[in-house]
Amino acid sequence: MGKRLEGKAAFITGAASGIGRQSALRFAAEGALVAVVDVNADGAAAVANEVVGAGGKAIALRADVSSEDEVATAVADAEEAFGRLDVVFNNAGIMHSDDGDAEATEETVWDLTMDINLKGVWFGCRHGIPALRRSGGGSIINTASFVALVGAATPQLAYTASKGAVLAMTRELSVIHARENIRVNALCPGPLRTELLMSFLDTEEKRQRRLVHVPMGRFGEASEIAEAALWLASDESSYVTGTDFSVDGGLTAAYVTPE
Ligand code: NAI
Repeated sequence: MGKRLEGKAAFITGAASGIGRQSALRFAAEGALVAVVDVNADGAAAVANEVVGAGGKAIALRADVSSEDEVATAVADAEEAFGRLDVVFNNAGIMHSDDGDAEATEETVWDLTMDINLKGVWFGCRHGIPALRRSGGGSIINTASFVALVGAATPQLAYTASKGAVLAMTRELSVIHARENIRVNALCPGPLRTELLMSFLDTEEKRQRRLVHVPMGRFGEASEIAEAALWLASDESSYVTGTDFSVDGGLTAAYVTPE
């Protein structure tokens, strides 16, 4: 079997860490040319170096996804460097430590979360779609979350609202672009052992409380999400569009979990 992303060029945001980093490494190992995009320039450069060190091809691009100019420039730079774009993985996101319930969440926290988690995905689609069209089609993957599907008593209202909107936007885009050979899917990870969640669940008690709801009884790994993203990026998922693809240890299937 040939490499699963041979000849494809992928643009991955939030690629300096967690899911994005693992996906950059995994996509490149399957033959993709990878644009490692992150607001953290040093982190992006380190991941691009890691990819190259492992025998893959990557470039690092600094962009804050909440800035339309920066996203437009990064997409143009990636397309120019690779001569095409086949995969856009809008994955960058934040979970603000002051995100709370309806009463406690400050408007500034709400706006920042929406700017990055939601508007950032829109900008990635806005500038990624024409680039994919120029390549004859492609695959867009937008990172939502299990909180787009089920509610949690641990409040993070701005985050949850942003992810629900990412999922709804993804569905609509999938329908709009279905006949252009552009597939658009949302990835809904469960709770992961990455920097983003572990710094939010900052005590062992909070972590254990979250794990009660996961049938598998453990946090997921970023590499397990990268495997799903790889499949959605590749032609193996050629009839899959508009999904809320859950990779969550059974969380959204559960009513009561095992002891
Ligand atoms: P992470 O914190 O390990 O990595 C996120 C990356 O995004 C970092 O490299 C960061 O510098 C970058 N980033 C942040 N703001 C940015 C901006 N404005 N522009 C460009 N890059 C920016 O987080 P992780 O866990 O890998 O999260 C990736 C995505 O997965 C996020 O959208 C997150 O909401 C989502 N997710 C994470 C879950 C978890 O439990 N960790 C569960 C469900 C979804």
